[in-house]
Amino acid sequence: MSHVVNNLLSESIYQPLEKLKEFFNSNYKDTTQFFILVDDHTFEHCLPILLDKFRILEKVNIIIVESGENNKTIKTCERIWNELAAHNTERQDTLFINLGGGVVCDLGGFAAATFKRGIDFINIPTTLISMADASIGGKTGVNFNSIKNMIGVFAHPKCVFIHHDFLKSLERRQIVSGMAEILKHGLIADRELWNKCINIKDIMTEELSNIIYESLKIKQSIVVQDEMDRGIRNTLNFGHTIGHALESYSMIHDEMPITHGEAVASGMIMETFIANQMRILSDSDFQSIKTGILRFFMPYKMNTKGISELISLMANDKKNQQESINIQMLHAIGVMPQKSYHKKEIIYDSLNNYLSLQH
Ligand code: GLY
Repeated sequence: MSHVVNNLLSESIYQPLEKLKEFFNSNYKDTTQFFILVDDHTFEHCLPILLDKFRILEKVNIIIVESGENNKTIKTCERIWNELAAHNTERQDTLFINLGGGVVCDLGGFAAATFKRGIDFINIPTTLISMADASIGGKTGVNFNSIKNMIGVFAHPKCVFIHHDFLKSLERRQIVSGMAEILKHGLIADRELWNKCINIKDIMTEELSNIIYESLKIKQSIVVQDEMDRGIRNTLNFGHTIGHALESYSMIHDEMPITHGEAVASGMIMETFIANQMRILSDSDFQSIKTGILRFFMPYKMNTKGISELISLMANDKKNQQESINIQMLHAIGVMPQKSYHKKEIIYDSLNNYLSLQH
């Protein structure tokens, strides 16, 4: 079994969906039990496409979960384990397929990786953000006690299958949101990818396909060097220190909170402002980053009175110390950032500067 896959070093960890049949034929038999995890959105919009393309999935067991981050819980996971148990699922000769965005990939990956100490799973991401980020890298898990991804394991999918057409079922805002992680990959590792992204004519077209693969290649190359996230993989947190705090702030205060991608995009502008202020990042790179990101994302609107609360959210983040905030500092576009600690005052300035963009 399994000649192509489960090899993190291999580029075949991600493939176009057209390769799925070949993957089944090389790795599974007629007796294989297939399970597909979907949420209500992918059940309606993506599953029919998949079933239509791959007859082998005719007898698949479908597990539907409600969409949304608040369903990424141990309770939902228990439901999945119960379904697997009810079908007398064996560790061998079973394939669990996650068809969905980040929630489905994280949750399904965790359920599969822990059932009977691990059954094979693959990811078929259906949102841009999950294509660029969650589907690859082996981070699986669920939220617990209101903390995101508190319980989880590192477990890699056997393969990740990309199908651009799934994006057609999404609203523009969701696609744009996914661009944030792709822009991030360009900024931390590949100036050429950054330039391609900021010059893309229309992200709602196939033009995006190449960019998705280039972005995946960058994420994978970082993950293979530091699978357990103890060193270089931390560079993927670029834009996330301030971005996460902004996301939490928006969840508390806004009726319609900003998306993860929107928060990260804002975080990248603010974190590069700090690098530029410290003369680490050139003016021209800072300008390119600011203009490039603002081409896709509107500045987040909030009152400057909220800045102190935002900084407290950052200080309470487990990754930071109370008096100093840890940021991945970008020295140049396309060059891996480096972690350094910063006083709250400079973060305050960056937030103030960022908020002035909304006028
Ligand atoms: N999303 C960041 C990582 O996979 O490490």
